[in-house]
Amino acid sequence: MEVTPTDLGPKEEAEGLMSETKPPTMEVIPVGAANRDVYNNLAQGYEAEFLATTGKEPDAQGVFELDTKMGNDVRGFVLSVAGVPAGLIAVRLKDGGSFEVAEFYVVPSFRKQAWGQKFAHAVWRAMPGKWEIKQIAGAEYAAEFWRKTIGAFPPMEFQEDRYDDSYWGMVTRQRFVIATPPST
Ligand SMILES: CC(C)(COP(=O)(O)OP(=O)(O)OC[C@H]1O[C@@H](n2cnc3c(N)ncnc32)[C@H](O)[C@@H]1OP(=O)(O)O)[C@@H](O)C(=O)NCCC(=O)NCCS
Repeated sequence: MEVTPTDLGPKEEAEGLMSETKPPTMEVIPVGAANRDVYNNLAQGYEAEFLATTGKEPDAQGVFELDTKMGNDVRGFVLSVAGVPAGLIAVRLKDGGSFEVAEFYVVPSFRKQAWGQKFAHAVWRAMPGKWEIKQIAGAEYAAEFWRKTIGAFPPMEFQEDRYDDSYWGMVTRQRFVIATPPST
């Protein structure tokens, strides 16, 4: 499935808490040649979050290798808030046409402001279909984030189980279906 900026809509407007204040503008930008470095730089922050669990070491340049590489079956998007790169998502397109959230990250200074939730919802609206998300052992906070974020999407059933992943070991997994919006 091809995802273009048009599919995502030009801009996802955030909801303001105060009516007189113009809310910051949120954009979801597909990763391409022009912003690959932005994605890769943010991905270093994402890698750093899990170093204690993964035990990864940096390469000779001090760079951590990414688990998920762009291209082939993986699409990336950068979250931009008021023009600042604030997060990333990597989506794996699986056999049978379903999707998996392979990586998801919000820069710490943007957290707990609903940006992560809005970001995930924007991507799901652009890519309806079957989705799954896995969280490694010890990332219970991430499982809580996903339960709330899935639960806050317009009515949708989801299943959660424990799953023995060939790479990550025992993980928590959510599976759900994003309905295709009715054509207008
Ligand atoms: C998990 C993460 C994406 C959350 O991003 P965020 O922008 O702070 O999340 P939001 O503000 O949109 O939160 C949405 C809901 O999840 C909850 N939530 C967010 N972070 C949470 C945490 N650390 N623990 C428990 N609940 C959390 C929020 O309370 C909110 O629920 P509410 O609407 O009832 O208040 C961010 O902390 C992050 O990037 N962490 C490191 C990378 C990571 O763990 N990625 C997920 C891998 S599967």
